[in-house]
Amino acid sequence: MTLVDRPLIQYAIDEARAAGITEFIFVTARGKSALEDYFDMAPDLEAQLESSGKNELLEILKSTNMDSGAIAYIRQQRAMGLGHAVWCARRLIGDEPFAVILPDDVIAADKPCLQQMVEAYESTEGAMVAAMEVAPEAVSSYGILDIASDDGQLVKVRGMVEKPKKEVAPSTLAVIGRYILTPSVLRNLSKLGSGAGGEIQLTDAIAQEIQKGHPVHGLRFQGDRFDCGSKAGFLKATVAFGMAREDLRDEFYQYLAETVSLQKAAQ
Ligand code: G1P
Repeated sequence: MTLVDRPLIQYAIDEARAAGITEFIFVTARGKSALEDYFDMAPDLEAQLESSGKNELLEILKSTNMDSGAIAYIRQQRAMGLGHAVWCARRLIGDEPFAVILPDDVIAADKPCLQQMVEAYESTEGAMVAAMEVAPEAVSSYGILDIASDDGQLVKVRGMVEKPKKEVAPSTLAVIGRYILTPSVLRNLSKLGSGAGGEIQLTDAIAQEIQKGHPVHGLRFQGDRFDCGSKAGFLKATVAFGMAREDLRDEFYQYLAETVSLQKAAQ
């Protein structure tokens, strides 16, 4: 899916790079092979842009190129949940901390969300998730944190529950699709049965860390999050990211303002 003029996946890669990450693993599925082509070199197109003097476009194209060996793809053969998707990559991840980004959660921030987390991680270790307050009616769409202590930014977590009913949710602080995890979480996933929705849940594997006595934190990140997995969320992201672009802002704003005033007049 394209947000303004770049695929969502490119935003995820840019955010990871800003956080200092240099090696990437994509867990994909059948029908997603276009992803591999997207991150490959495009020598024909590069030559064409060069000969026609389209240097700006050429630079954009080159910025999406990946170093050889920096990117790997692995298939999740059956859709068995987020935890299972991460577990599919266990051998490639190896025995070191790693980050997980869910690219349909797009975050507009002055300092990219994952970078904020990497900086906060230096004082916490263990596992860390991005966290955001949601409406009580929305808790059943998220992993929800049970809060042990909270300094307004960093939250020490004492439990996590995936998609709880509003009545039993421990808080309204939700997990957003950014995680810093340890190999211990992968080991938990290896032994985990299915959880909420019959899927193998990453939330459950992280919650097990707390039982093992390992620290788990949530970071209330600075920034605006858009759920591009929903139609309304994707449209909102398009407006926000379109308005943030100097080359588009004026024309786009005028169109939006006209559309809104026409709507108001018609009401
Ligand atoms: C996933 C996670 C959930 C998290 C959410 C954030 O759910 O399982 O814990 O809160 O992403 O977007 P999904 O949206 O895939 O159902």
